[in-house]
Amino acid sequence: MNPEAVPTAEAPERLAFDLQDLFKATPRHPRFLLPLLQDIQSRYRYLPRASLKLVAEHLQIPESRVYAVATFYKALSLTPKGEKTVKVCLGTACHLRGAASVLDALSRSLGIPPGGTTADLRFTLETVNCLGACALAPVVTVNERVYGQMTPGRVAELIREETPHEAD
Ligand code: FES
Repeated sequence: MNPEAVPTAEAPERLAFDLQDLFKATPRHPRFLLPLLQDIQSRYRYLPRASLKLVAEHLQIPESRVYAVATFYKALSLTPKGEKTVKVCLGTACHLRGAASVLDALSRSLGIPPGGTTADLRFTLETVNCLGACALAPVVTVNERVYGQMTPGRVAELIREETPHEAD
């Protein structure tokens, strides 16, 4: 999805229109709160503010309850996420092999702090505690792709590889 396709809180009517199919397919029961939020998150890579109200109306529950769940889970976000999530492992094995300097280099190259998203919505930078690939430490993942034995010197190459090239 390109960034222009991501709805904003300023366009609640469009959002209601876009989410019609999802609401139609979701029974009006509070137990569907989390799955519904997960579906919206995966569709837009975040939860537009207006969607919380729509979810509350659909499930007939208070908006405060929707908000509480939306802010509780790390996988849900009220701010737009990048098309690609760069995760830097700061677990023990990765930390001992220089993960902090890899994180610094990524942060500088992308121009965002950990937890941030680039203005073009291309990348979100996150830290995690163990990606389960300690033998490859330090490890960075970009969506499903794993980069092992990362160094600050390989950061530019990683960003180049993960940036789509315009056709000539
Ligand atoms: S500590 Fe980094 S992958 Fe396990």
